[in-house]
Amino acid sequence: QFTPRVFSGIQPSGGLTLGNYLGAIRRFVQMQEEDYETVYCMVDLHAITAKLLDPAELSHNTRELAAGFIASGLSPDKSILINQSQVPEHAQLGWIFNCVARMGWMSRMTQFKDKAGKNAEKVSLGLFGYPALMAADILIYHATHVPVGEDQKQHLELTRDIAAKFNHDYGVDFFPMTEPVIEGAATRVMSLRDGSKKMSKSDPSDASRINMTDDADTIAKKIRKAKTDPDALPSEVAGLADRPEARNLINIYAALSDQSVDAVLRDVGGQQFGTFKPALAELAVAKLGPISEEMARLMADPAEIDRILAKGAGQAREITAPILKRTYEIIGM
Ligand code: ADP
Ligand code: NA
Repeated sequence: QFTPRVFSGIQPSGGLTLGNYLGAIRRFVQMQEEDYETVYCMVDLHAITAKLLDPAELSHNTRELAAGFIASGLSPDKSILINQSQVPEHAQLGWIFNCVARMGWMSRMTQFKDKAGKNAEKVSLGLFGYPALMAADILIYHATHVPVGEDQKQHLELTRDIAAKFNHDYGVDFFPMTEPVIEGAATRVMSLRDGSKKMSKSDPSDASRINMTDDADTIAKKIRKAKTDPDALPSEVAGLADRPEARNLINIYAALSDQSVDAVLRDVGGQQFGTFKPALAELAVAKLGPISEEMARLMADPAEIDRILAKGAGQAREITAPILKRTYEIIGM
């Protein structure tokens, strides 16, 4: 009954990292080539929930994120690429969902608890309501599939709870039960200086982070300085247990070279990091170098990026306007 349609978004809250690329954007590109309509979004309304950003910084981040999407292979001819604030139906359905979601449901969101910490009185109302807006981002397209990291699983469950309550309370079968498409732990890229923390664009204090705008020398230097242990690499996966830094570098190598971890270990087992790190750096530069060059080329013409996003907003509204109209009719508006 529902068209197979993918929606996903990334916050323009800082520069893109290798983690965003391997964990999210690569999957976005794959799904674009499969039998789905694909909608990918710079979620700028979400980017101000943690703190109000400098306006010039926010608009720069949004364009840079769009450049990163396009340079990685997302094509404005195959996917709808949008900036969330330019498609007003997201926020309009978000309000309705604020009235569908229950305080108790929202209070159980672990990401809110993590982000708010002990400071829950001081964070914005938007941070608390974020998952209801995220549900609207997805359901305003009747999206059937959402590729996300494991950290977003609970928000997808909330999206289904909101859809189910709306459908039940109004006696309709209007919103789909959206499926998350979750990458396994192997595509979770960890920090190069602490193998127990994820590499994140939202953590400005981590200078070891590999940014998608880094040049070849910077990438090579960051990999050379990555924390490791003194042992040689194992030739089997079991040998990576209790060696989070080694496991992370092997995972990155496997992801960048499209090989299984087993296959990589068969090749590099027995090597010292002094041999393995330059090979990893060479691979990372070969994969990311062309993307960062293309990003720089695109960023030199911001008007062209704005044009692509404006076109995407027009295409998006052909989907979102009728769905919002029907939602209002169901409610009696
Ligand atoms: P960040 O923490 O870098 O600000 P976001 O929360 O905006 O990232 O997440 C954007 C997408 O990138 C999500 O689908 C998320 O699961 C994925 N992602 C973020 N960091 C990583 C990582 N280190 N490894 C794998 N995927 C990641
Ligand atoms: Na497609």
